[in-house]
Amino acid sequence: MRHGAVEGMQDMSEVVERWGSRRAFIIAVTGAAVGLGNIWRFPWMTGENGGAAFLMLYVVFLVLLGLPVMIAEIMIGRAGRRTPIQALTHLARDAGKSRHWGWLGLFCGVTLFFILSFYSVVSGWSIEYLVDALSGHFASQSPQEIGSAFDAFLASPGRVLFNHTLFLFLTMSVVALGVGGGLERLNNLLMPLLYLLLVLLVGYAFTTSGFTAALAWLFMPDLSALTPMAIFNAMGHAFFTLAVGAGALMTYGAYMPDDQSLPRAVVTVAILDVAVALMAGIAIFSIVFSQNMAPDSGPGLMFVTLPIAFADLPGGALWLGAFFVLLLLATWTSSINLAEPMVAMLGSLGMARWLAAVLIGVGVWLMGLPSALSFSIWSDVRPFGDMTLFDLATTLPIDIMLPIGGLLIAFFAAWVMEGTRASMAIGAGERFYRHWRAVVRWVSIPLLVVVLVGFFLS
Ligand code: PFF
Repeated sequence: MRHGAVEGMQDMSEVVERWGSRRAFIIAVTGAAVGLGNIWRFPWMTGENGGAAFLMLYVVFLVLLGLPVMIAEIMIGRAGRRTPIQALTHLARDAGKSRHWGWLGLFCGVTLFFILSFYSVVSGWSIEYLVDALSGHFASQSPQEIGSAFDAFLASPGRVLFNHTLFLFLTMSVVALGVGGGLERLNNLLMPLLYLLLVLLVGYAFTTSGFTAALAWLFMPDLSALTPMAIFNAMGHAFFTLAVGAGALMTYGAYMPDDQSLPRAVVTVAILDVAVALMAGIAIFSIVFSQNMAPDSGPGLMFVTLPIAFADLPGGALWLGAFFVLLLLATWTSSINLAEPMVAMLGSLGMARWLAAVLIGVGVWLMGLPSALSFSIWSDVRPFGDMTLFDLATTLPIDIMLPIGGLLIAFFAAWVMEGTRASMAIGAGERFYRHWRAVVRWVSIPLLVVVLVGFFLS
């Protein structure tokens, strides 16, 4: 066994397979981390929440919450060596605590369900853009035309739904057939190309008139931009981008070899992950400022700016096509990672894999409808204030459910589990364990509680 697949984990017995090497683990977790969060959501959120102020908060949350909780989550998987529900139940029982901790695994499954529902819709947008790019559609268009073409696309329910359906079908087929490992290997092979294309984009951004403004926007904080919403979004994003808080990483931990240090692996993944977001941010905001666009133009930011950039480059259609191919591959593997634990959970109840995949697929498709139709026939549906259905479908799982899941995972790891067992599973020595536990107990958990309570009271 090499990558991410959890096939065969249908009973309470321990998994025995291990990643082939240190690198295999890091590459696989980076595959789950890098996705729409970095290239699509990071620039969108940064644009909406005041630029550098948001970036600063996001980095603070990444260090104080994202990394410590990521260690907690992978450690639980590594110590339990089972699917999330079983690992939590088993570890709680061994520590003489309530078996009800297994419910946390179920909560994680529900979070994954909600995330996948909008993830599939947005990945569908990328399919549309891949086809448009390869057909040379953008080459002859002005930036204004490219901007309005995106709005027109979103306003067409048929096209959005078709792509959502196609993407979800591709995801669930891979999960049903249990061939996720092969796809992940392909992704791992091609991932360096995504980095290369981003470097190329940053190089292009350097030649535009908006480059300096983009750097200032991203790196010179205007503290007056720190609204409660910015704090809240930055916290959710720190979890989302690292794929932390939904139990998906427990599965990875279950296959981690005994002799690997977890903290080092986690820091490497975080650096690789942030690098993608920063490169995407620099490229996208350079285009925003050189085209006099508004940085806060919402979830369409990436889809409007990148075609403009590539249209300017020689062979742009092909480059843009290549970019969307790589992005789709990255989102495809991320969405398989989102779906797999849910299918494995149903599998552990005795359901056949294909049936579990069909049921989850149909459920996620239906749950994706509000996101898909939020820009067309349901654009006027605003259940809370002026939040659209799409805002709701992204905010609820990312900004609320992931932090709550992260909080419970952190609490379990630092207060419920047996210390020696946790320390062994982190694999970085007793001293590191004690420092980590102190950070989780006295910094991460209180910070999470304060921000979450603050949000609900505001
Ligand atoms: N980290 C992924 C991204 O940034 O696109 C999203 C994600 C994948 C979140 C898997 C959670 C997860 F379990």
